[in-house]
Amino acid sequence: MKPPGATLGVLGGGQLGRMLALEARRMGYRTIALDPTVDGPAGQFCDELIVGSFSDVDAAVRLAERSTVVTLETEHIALPVLQAVEALRPLYPGAAILGTIQDRLSQRRCLDSIGVPHTRYAEVTDAASLDVALARLGQPAILKTRRDGYDGKGQVAIRDAESLKAARALLHQQPCILEAFVPFEREISCIAARSLDGHFAAYPIAENIHRNHILHATIAPARISAETARNAEEVTRAIAEGLGFVGLLAVEFFVLPDGTLLVNEIAPRTHNSGHFTLGACATSQFEQQARCIMGLPLGETTLFSPAVMVNLLGDLWLDRTPEWELLLGLPNAHLHLYGKAQAKAGRKMGHLLLLGSDIDASLRTADEIVR
Ligand SMILES: Nc1ncnc2c1ncn2[C@@H]1O[C@H](COP(=O)(O)OP(=O)(O)OP(=O)(O)O)[C@@H](O)[C@H]1O
Ligand SMILES: [Mg+2]
Repeated sequence: MKPPGATLGVLGGGQLGRMLALEARRMGYRTIALDPTVDGPAGQFCDELIVGSFSDVDAAVRLAERSTVVTLETEHIALPVLQAVEALRPLYPGAAILGTIQDRLSQRRCLDSIGVPHTRYAEVTDAASLDVALARLGQPAILKTRRDGYDGKGQVAIRDAESLKAARALLHQQPCILEAFVPFEREISCIAARSLDGHFAAYPIAENIHRNHILHATIAPARISAETARNAEEVTRAIAEGLGFVGLLAVEFFVLPDGTLLVNEIAPRTHNSGHFTLGACATSQFEQQARCIMGLPLGETTLFSPAVMVNLLGDLWLDRTPEWELLLGLPNAHLHLYGKAQAKAGRKMGHLLLLGSDIDASLRTADEIVR
């Protein structure tokens, strides 16, 4: 166990790193982040910041040398950087696991080998293999770049001749996988942690509503049966154990109308759909991540109150100022802003957590705020 006073290093300095730094510092740890931006969300809260890109091995080595243990807030870190860090300090999750998850194809193959149900997919490298894959998986289908995707970036839904042309253009730039389109009833995620000594703890399952492929709102607990919730937790446990994962992870699922679950993807880190845990649960996902990597006992994952989390995207800032008085005057609402200098359409600027047992009322409030 690394007691408070030790230094937690984090690769990445966005909002996930910021909330990790907030929680870790509250617990008495020192924090240091690596990020390309000088005054980013985490840099404003860490004890130290090293400015460097996610492919800068020298910068990462400096971070590792000043850290007791290292973790990350984004999986888009170059493998040589992860390996260099791991050669110097414990890195959780480790470079080998991250290498598998970074690439959608190797992530899918890993899910195959663990034996959990996930979306049908095919590897595609050129126009000919795309045609073969489309014939097998049918249309509509979704072409996704194997690497570096987030918030739906690097994806094309193929449903007609025009989108097929766009898909071919995407494929020309980067290797991809094709996924069958899933006519899901809802999307859910399981936020969970696995400690160094193999203990596993999951939070109550969350339900996610996306708009334009970006998470709009999360409802906790998800409006699903107890059996579906148990299945999602068991699949998440199988993945964490199958990978030998240490740290905080999120598994995204599609729920079909008959209750069948399909894994969409694994995030080897804290997750936007787990923000409700900070404010609604006994232990936040960020404290849990710190506990995992520092070798502390896992915290309780009890949900104290039903919650709705709504993302505040840069669009809210574009033609007006957000209605702060209204937002801050809401009972049982907690505002989180990430300290980003510039608002852009689709950029996550903050979120609002609405606590209370009336989920429908919270959802209505969320829709009034983010129209
Ligand atoms: N095969 C699919 N069938 C139906 N909808 C899909 C499929 N793949 C993705 N989507 C929709 O697009 C959203 C984003 O997809 P995905 O999770 O693959 O993207 P991402 O870029 O990795 O996003 P993030 O990292 O923000 O979760 C999904 O949550 C879902 O709403
Ligand atoms: Mg996703």
